[in-house]
This record gives sequence, C-alpha cells and structure tokens, in this order.
Amino acid sequence: MNYDKKTIRDIDVSGKKILLRCDFNVPHDKKTGVIHDDTRIVATLPTIRYLLEHGAAVILTSHMGRPHGVWKQENSLFSARDHLEKLLGIPVPMTTDVLGPDTKAKCAALQPGQVLLIENLRFRVEEEKNDPDFAKELASLADIFVFDAFGCAHRAHASTAGVADYLPAVAGFLVEKELAFMGKALEAPQRPLVAILGGAKVSDKIGVINSLLQKADTIIIGGGMAYTFQVAMGGKIGTSLLDEEHIDYARDMIAKAKELGVKLLLPVDTVVTKEFAADAESSLVPAKAIPDDRMGMDIGPETIQLFSDAIRGAGTVIWNGPMGVFEFPAFAKGTNAVAEALAGLENAVTIVGGGDSVSAVEKTGFSSKISHISTGGGASLEFLEGLVLPGIACLADR
Ligand code: 3PG
Repeated sequence: MNYDKKTIRDIDVSGKKILLRCDFNVPHDKKTGVIHDDTRIVATLPTIRYLLEHGAAVILTSHMGRPHGVWKQENSLFSARDHLEKLLGIPVPMTTDVLGPDTKAKCAALQPGQVLLIENLRFRVEEEKNDPDFAKELASLADIFVFDAFGCAHRAHASTAGVADYLPAVAGFLVEKELAFMGKALEAPQRPLVAILGGAKVSDKIGVINSLLQKADTIIIGGGMAYTFQVAMGGKIGTSLLDEEHIDYARDMIAKAKELGVKLLLPVDTVVTKEFAADAESSLVPAKAIPDDRMGMDIGPETIQLFSDAIRGAGTVIWNGPMGVFEFPAFAKGTNAVAEALAGLENAVTIVGGGDSVSAVEKTGFSSKISHISTGGGASLEFLEGLVLPGIACLADR
C-alpha cells in the first residue's frame, strides 16, 4: 500500500464544501453521554481548524458504536458534538436525520467557515454495507472528501471508502501523521526495530507477528500470549491463559525467528497468583515452571530487565499490547516498566498502537514521551499486518 497520500495541504479548499470523515467513536457513558476519553476528537482538531481557516465549509461525519441501522439515543453523536463545540469554541449544529431532508437543507445552507455534524451514519444500514447509492448521495453534499478517521481506516464503508468513488479524496492531518509514523516504521525504520507484542490472545496477533517477523530485528513477547509460547517450548504454565489452538503456530514462529535471525525474547520470570483478583497474593516463579494451581499475572523483574535492555538499544520501537493484567495496579509493573523504557529513549522513534496498549501507556503517565500514539485499535493492528486499509487505499496518491 502506498502511504504517500495527498493531504488537504495539496489542494485548494477555499470556498469548497468538504465532507470530512472523523472517528468520534469515543468511550462515553451510555446514559449521560459524558465522554471518558476525547483523544480521537482532539486529534481531528488541526484538520477541522485548517479547513475552516482556509475558507471551507466543513460537513463532519462519524459513527458511534454499532447500532446496525437502529436509531438509539445511546449511539447518538450529540455528546461528541457538545464536546467539539467546547473545543472549537464555535457552534457545531447537528442534523436530526442521516441524509434526510434535514441533512440536505443544513448542508445546502452551510457557508465557508462554518461546520456541521451529520448524526451517526450507522443509523442507516447502507453505511456499513457500503451501498453505492448511499455513498453517492453522501458525496453529493460536498465537493471534496477528506478522510481523517484513522480508527476506521480498516472499514470499507460508504463514508470511509465508498464516497471516494464520487469525489476527489485526500487525507487529513491525523491520517497523514499516522501514515508518516507507522508507514516509515514498517518501510524504512531507523534500526534496530524492536517490536513488543502483548495482550491476551495469540490469535489476535497472528497477522502482526507474521508481518513483523519479516521486518523487525527483535520481537519481544509478553502478556497473556506469552504463555502459549512457553507451552510451545515445553514449559508449564499452571492455570495461565493458553491459546491451545495456536501452540503449533507459536512453535513455528520460534523456529522461523531463528531461521530469519530475528531475536525473539520471552519472559524468564512471572508474577503468579492463585486467583484472578486485584488483591490476590502473588509470588515470583520461573516463566517456564509455573505451579499447577497458579496463573501468570505480570512479567517479573528479571524479564523487565531483559526487555528494558533490548529496548534501550532500539532505533524504532513498535508496541502493541500490555505485558500483564495492568488494570490491577499490583500487576501493572511490567507494563509500566516497558512504558518507562520507551519514554527513556532519546533518539528513537516510539510508536504505541492498539486500544489496550494506548490506555495502558496513558495510565503510566509516560504518554507525552512517546513519539506517536495511534488512534487506531483494529486499524493499527491491520496496518502493522501490512494489510490494505480501504480508507487509505481510496485516497489520491501524491
Ligand atoms: C474503533 O473504535 O476501533 C473504530 O471506531 C472502528 O469501530 P468499529 O470496530 O465498530 O468499526
């Protein structure tokens, strides 16, 4: 996939109506609408501001949750709109329908320097089906399509890819930044490239491991998925998470890493408990000899040292997935230590991608020291897998 896409800087937006796809699918309270994390909204502000300052009329679109064509208050974009109004400091009117008479009237009346938000596109089933008539109707509201919803780049929906069949399509600044960091890390990384993979299941990361084995110099595996790798090497993991179907896969990957000369690092010690609980009593055991009645909750101090040493020499680090049950403070030490190791790198490019790793790094307080925190969950995983993302592929090449 070509990552060098035209952006709003490459075109004249003055006096034009812009259909700007954002990802305002933010965590919020379903009853009160209170937003718990506004990162994705804040990340789109530079694009919105640039367009308004350069004389464009901006029609914003997004989805919220997965209502699959059913109109539900909890999936309304009203709370995102209220929040955006505060951040922009100007009124952000919103439509009461999706592509009905209200949308059409409000879009037709929109003037340069004004912004409007269309209600959740997934209130119409045609959106996720990428229905061509729906995409064409959406496109008819504007002169140019701008895609800034990196979190939805892996979706081939009407508003993320379909509209590009009917309008000139370019990237916004958020997508430009995601492509610059993640694209470069995959195509021409400053070496050594160290990939840190964690999270619960091997099955979620197969594509990423396959792809990074071809590109990385070192792969560090921690978190729940590491236990399956221990079993693949003949270790005992007690009652820890095991992805039984992927033991052979893990064994193949260990062999492949050897064959390709990629250093594969696994935990050497593990913090274990009897129960899965925040206040469970813990002890430290060798990673390959976890007692039958114990489960792994975090990486141990020797592993932290091993992983931190490998990170210290990196030119580029890509991190996806926590090292342990970081939601429980007592078992967040490994994840915190990895975040600290990334934060301590001075001349390296550090990238954190994926939903859980982002909240993990934010909890550590080191996020401002990371070069790039991706706004994509599923999208950044698919990006790291090297898959073609429809929301990116449809944009004009530079
Ligand atoms: C996300 O939260 O990952 C994006 O907004 C995409 O949402 P989806 O998985 O419902 O398509």
